[in-house]
Amino acid sequence: MRHMDSFVVEGLAGEPKLAGNITVSGAKNHILKVMAAAALIEGESRFENVPDIADVTAMGKLLEGLGAFVTRSGSSLTVSAKPMSGTVMDPALAKSLRASIVLAGPVLARFGSVTFPHPGGDVIGERPIDVFLSGFEKLGAKISWNGGSYHLEAPQGLSGGEFFFRVVSVTGTETLMMAATLAKGPVTLKNCAMEPEVVATAEFLKSCGAKIEGVGTTTIVINPSSLTPRASPFRIMPDRIEAESFLALGAMAGKKLTVSGVVPQHLDSVINTLWSMGVPLTISGDSITVSAPERLLPVNVRTHEYPGFPTDAQAPFTVLLTQAEGDSIVIESIFEGRLNYTAELVKMGAKITLISPHRAKITGKTPLSAIAVDSPDIRAGLALLLAAAIAKGKSTIGNANIIDRGYEGIEKKLSAVGLSIKRVRS
Ligand code: EPU
Repeated sequence: MRHMDSFVVEGLAGEPKLAGNITVSGAKNHILKVMAAAALIEGESRFENVPDIADVTAMGKLLEGLGAFVTRSGSSLTVSAKPMSGTVMDPALAKSLRASIVLAGPVLARFGSVTFPHPGGDVIGERPIDVFLSGFEKLGAKISWNGGSYHLEAPQGLSGGEFFFRVVSVTGTETLMMAATLAKGPVTLKNCAMEPEVVATAEFLKSCGAKIEGVGTTTIVINPSSLTPRASPFRIMPDRIEAESFLALGAMAGKKLTVSGVVPQHLDSVINTLWSMGVPLTISGDSITVSAPERLLPVNVRTHEYPGFPTDAQAPFTVLLTQAEGDSIVIESIFEGRLNYTAELVKMGAKITLISPHRAKITGKTPLSAIAVDSPDIRAGLALLLAAAIAKGKSTIGNANIIDRGYEGIEKKLSAVGLSIKRVRS
């Protein structure tokens, strides 16, 4: 039976008391992609700095369902894709994980067909896959839908070609880039996502022999190549969203909180937002130290593709803005369901008006009171946990398992810097 855990948090009642160091883990949205990329390679791929989170376990099971072997030892993970031959994904598993669509690209490219259901994931709004499908078609795949699953076929292999992304898509860019490494001719992808995870996934593929140019810009060109396993383990990049969430916490409740193991350049947009809010930050190598200022200034935030303000950091920053003195506007430009959790912040005492599903007005500063609430998705769940951390009284955040999908041992990291937080099994 699957247990549903809860986090019980004794709030700091607005007192900036957190001190010490939090080291961020490897990035969820990087490891999931390179695990899928490993399916392109007839051999063993080893990864290090792998976070111990539920989504990695689910991706591992999905790969095993197709014949691969996935083993884990501490923070190392190995995918042996040599024995892979299956092309039909387990529907229940694939539905539970948005990143399952990413695996469709490598499987199609290597084996000439793939079958998968419409992928699920978070409840943050519509998650269509039309862009993936038209990209695969452009590379010569035939697509059919039998009412329950998609079946894609390219028995002679994928062909070269040019594809323009109608919308900028992170997983879309990664999936087509991976699939294109085994195509018979050159592939040009235009209007690509530039997120650091896309770049880091290309680095892995390049180190296995892929010929990829232009990654980190909007045009990526992939030339035909053959892929061979790397000799050494590949290191997963630090989770920039985890880092940004802890910086938001430090700006509200930090006495002197250090977030370490980060790549500061990945955090430019968030760091500049914190500066505009008057938050004192010290950047030193791969560490950032933050403390809560006497007074937080309001600021307008608009989520945007990288290097703009990340949609995944929007919820933690909305919590932070409830503590700024004055009016702030948050525009969520990527997903339409991603401001729904603000209703819970209002119950805690925040003054937030939803002007539209994409736009919220926050008027601060408001003290927050404790709440009992279930985590709606990974990022909003974490934001509610941060709200509970600064609130007055004891809060319970249910559905902790949803937060576990993206954050490794969050209660251990937060209690180590002075927050009273417990996991309760129900
Ligand atoms: N879109 C389409 N058609 C498609 C694909 C996307 O219309 O076929 C739209 C989406 O509806 C959305 C926009 O394009 O409005 C951008 O979505 P994108 O495809 O970039 O999102 P994603 O690749 O599905 C990844 C992350 C998300 C993160 C977004 C945006 C992974 C596994 N997920 O999703 O992370 O929010 O990029 O940066 O990498 C999370 O980690 O909690 C999370 C949701």
